[in-house]
Amino acid sequence: MITIYFAAGQERWPSYEAPLRAALVEAAICATLSADCPDPAQVDYIIFAPGGEIDDFAPFTRCKAVLNLWAGVEKIVSNPTLTQPLCRMVDPALTAGMVEWVLGHALRHHLGLDRHIVNPAHVWDPTCPPIAAERPVTMLGLGALGQACANAMQQVGFPVRGWSRTQKDIPNLTTFHGADGLKASLQGAELVVLLLPKTVATENILNHETLALLAPGAAILNPGRGHLIDDAALLAALTQGTLGHATLDVFREEPLPAAHPFWSHPRVTVTPHIAAETRPNSASRVVVENIRRGEASLPFLHLVDRGRGY
Ligand code: NDP
Ligand code: OXD
Repeated sequence: MITIYFAAGQERWPSYEAPLRAALVEAAICATLSADCPDPAQVDYIIFAPGGEIDDFAPFTRCKAVLNLWAGVEKIVSNPTLTQPLCRMVDPALTAGMVEWVLGHALRHHLGLDRHIVNPAHVWDPTCPPIAAERPVTMLGLGALGQACANAMQQVGFPVRGWSRTQKDIPNLTTFHGADGLKASLQGAELVVLLLPKTVATENILNHETLALLAPGAAILNPGRGHLIDDAALLAALTQGTLGHATLDVFREEPLPAAHPFWSHPRVTVTPHIAAETRPNSASRVVVENIRRGEASLPFLHLVDRGRGY
């Protein structure tokens, strides 16, 4: 019998308890599962979310893995008390949600939907948008989410360039990597999607210099993390009109403070960190699969590289 501690916030427990128990039964794993802290020295696996019950991992001496319910790990990866393996969330339903958010907002900008949805003066403007094949898109980040979104964008017809830390060979995708590849990936892009993690190396990836590489009037979608963009540079480019629009789901401070200029800027759309959520049914199966692997001495899936920070 193994012991699993759900330390991902009491508010999540009601929606996770039944799916987790069902996934454990399905995987034939005999476990004690609780959201009340058992004796830390007896815990085999911790299901974790930022803001949950644990800051100090040191007492969990037997713990074989910490299973994060979030895709992003910046709030836990540098915790000095964490010596156990850390796995992040790669959830098919979260991925589907992100693809839908990115596609929806991309098509809004591509088709110029606002022109017709908000048209109080009843202007007959027959400007026709280009087809997707004529609108170059750049995906910054080609991980679980970036690749799924790049693939969906390509299926609509957009020519997609992608950028990652390491070299990639992905069918039909023009890829760039490393610091040297960033400029080439952004040059002339009309739509940029940020799906990078928050690390020291990714802070302010979009700044005065890199924003200037984009096509005039380009749009930016940021469902990655707020720190990826230099806010002052972004606001300057939007106000000058060199950048057409920014749709932002994530911010340096969340909730976005009421007085923040993003709220009232006419070229900014704010969504409240809802681009994609971990879904209890599918995420429970992902978590339990990692527990199964741990018990079978198989390598964990979605293991975080602490040195890289993601
Ligand atoms: P992954 O870890 O699978 O992918 C990260 C990608 O970023 C990889 O392609 C990686 O390159 C690339 N990358 C990392 N560092 C650098 C760098 N220094 N230079 C260039 N590329 C870099 O993460 P996911 O795709 O699962 O998630 C991405 C992010 O999305 C999360 O970290 C989180 O911040 C955000 N997110 C936001 C949500 C929301 O609701 N708004 C929901 C879920 C996630 P390589 O492939 O070479 O390693
Ligand atoms: C995540 C997020 O990282 O919701 O999972 O941002």
